[in-house]
Amino acid sequence: MQKTIKTIETQLHDQLAHATSLKEVEEIRLAVLGKKGSVTQLLAQMKELSLDDKKAVGPLLQELRQAAEVSINKRRDFLVQQEAQAATVKEQLFDVTVGVSKAQRGHLHPYTHIVEEIQRIFLSMGYEIWDGPEVETDFYNFGALNIPQDHPARDMYDTFWTDAAGHLLRTHTSTVQIRAMQERKPPIAGIAPGRTFRHEAVDASHDYQFMQCEGLFIDKNVTVGHLFATAQTFLKALFEKDTLDIRIRPGFFPFVEPGFEIDMRCVFCKNGCSVCKQSTWIEVFPGGMVHPNVLKAGGIDPDQYAGFAFGFGLTRLAMLKYGIDDIRLLYSGKLKFLEQF
Ligand code: DAH
Repeated sequence: MQKTIKTIETQLHDQLAHATSLKEVEEIRLAVLGKKGSVTQLLAQMKELSLDDKKAVGPLLQELRQAAEVSINKRRDFLVQQEAQAATVKEQLFDVTVGVSKAQRGHLHPYTHIVEEIQRIFLSMGYEIWDGPEVETDFYNFGALNIPQDHPARDMYDTFWTDAAGHLLRTHTSTVQIRAMQERKPPIAGIAPGRTFRHEAVDASHDYQFMQCEGLFIDKNVTVGHLFATAQTFLKALFEKDTLDIRIRPGFFPFVEPGFEIDMRCVFCKNGCSVCKQSTWIEVFPGGMVHPNVLKAGGIDPDQYAGFAFGFGLTRLAMLKYGIDDIRLLYSGKLKFLEQF
């Protein structure tokens, strides 16, 4: 037993010397002085010893217990003191004048930027901003726009039909023209930026969802001159150019007559580049004079009023304005891309 006492004592000192946390010290204490600790067990075994052995071992054990308590407390006090010192040093080293890194701030999506810009330009020309549903009926997407059932022009639009008969995801924002006419009396002037959907295979320049902006202007004595001037004024403002040539070509859209493709002079080059496919012209602004059938569908008398409409690809303009070469980035949620705006 004397040997055991000696071993416990050396082990204890060794362990305490290596203990660097209060938790470790507590574990050591439990292992020696706890209910099942080595010293406690030895004390319990005393009962079984002869009187002589008791006399010989008893004082040693008591001594060991007291010495263990003292050493453990000493080590604990030392560690407590060390921790306190470390805390004070930390506090002294804490520099309240050090710059704090800026909290991360959110920012607007490129779509939000360009929609706000477009709205600002048209508001300055006296237009209203309209909104319309993304799930539409056959009537607003096709019928009222002079595209009756079985009309081949329906093939131009790869349509997502819904399970509800006659309902679809709008393939263009022209739907809002009809709603606007139904709700207002001329003169009418407004734009409707919004999401549109087509059943397209996705690649760098096609997505099954994209944004368009429809425009409608109706009054007495409206001519194609007003349409061309509006296109030019808008494009000059959007691309921040003092002068900007436009070019007009005939185009077919069932809801306008005559219909046009309005191109703008390439804003990126003088002699041809990859954006304008070496032609120096960029196709941006389809439009035309609202077809009498469409005016009628909107409840407006074509003998009294005339109007022009246009429907440009907002996604395309955003890609041109910000130099985005892959349409998929716009809905990707990639921060590396989005943080540039
Ligand atoms: N809705 C047409 C499309 O998605 C774009 C368009 C062309 C709208 C001419 C118009 C317009 O209002 O006059 O292809």
